[in-house]
Amino acid sequence: MKVVVLASGRGSNLQSLIDEWQNGSLPIEFVGVGSDKVKAHALIRAENAGIVTRAFPRDNYQDREAQETDILNWLEELGVELLVLAGYMRVLSQEFIRKSDYPIINIHPSLLPAFPGLRAQKQAVDYGVKMSGCTVHFVDEGMDSGPIILQEPVPVYSEDNEQTLAQRILRVEHKIYPEAVRLIMNGKIKREGRKVIIQTDS
Ligand code: GAR
Repeated sequence: MKVVVLASGRGSNLQSLIDEWQNGSLPIEFVGVGSDKVKAHALIRAENAGIVTRAFPRDNYQDREAQETDILNWLEELGVELLVLAGYMRVLSQEFIRKSDYPIINIHPSLLPAFPGLRAQKQAVDYGVKMSGCTVHFVDEGMDSGPIILQEPVPVYSEDNEQTLAQRILRVEHKIYPEAVRLIMNGKIKREGRKVIIQTDS
C-alpha cells in the first residue's frame, strides 16, 4: 500500500510510522512526505529515512486552491493509496476531499467529538475533563468530524497543563497511529456510514 504523509511541524507521529516501517512491523510503501512548511522538522525526519519529500509553502501560491492542486497532482504522480495527515495544520478543502479517491486519515489529540480544532489539549485542561485521549479518524469535509477508526483514553490530572497533557497523549498517539495504518493496510476495516467496523482475527 502506497502511503504519503502530510505534516506541518515536529513530525513525531511521522517518526512513529517511520520507526515501525523500518523495523518491518508496518510493511507499507512509504512513497512521500509533504509539508506546507519548508522548515518542518518532519521533512528532515523523512529525508533521514530516505523518503521522497516535497514542500508546498503557502507563500508560493496565490491561494489555497493553487496549493492544493499542486499537492493533488503530486499525490497522483506518487500513486498514493492512503494519505496520512500527521500534524498537518492546514484544513483540506471540500474540493480536495472530493477529488481524492483514496482514504485520508488524521490523528487528533482528544477523544472526538470533544475538543475539535486547534489546541485540543488546552481545551481539555481548561474544560476540566478528567479523561481525554486521542482519535484516529477518516477525514471528511468537516473539521475533525469524520468516522472514527481508533480511540484511546488518557487521564487528565489536576496539575496538568497543556504541555504535560500533550506529552502524555502523544505517547499514545505514537502507538495508535501505526496500528490504524496497519488495520487499513491489512483490510481489517469496513465502513458502514459513520461507523467503522474493525474485523478481529478470531
Ligand atoms: C499531534 O499531537 C497531533 O495529534 C496534533 O498535532 C500534533 C503533531 O505532532 N494534530 C492536531 O491537532 C490536528 N488537529 P507531531 O508533529 O509531533 O506529530
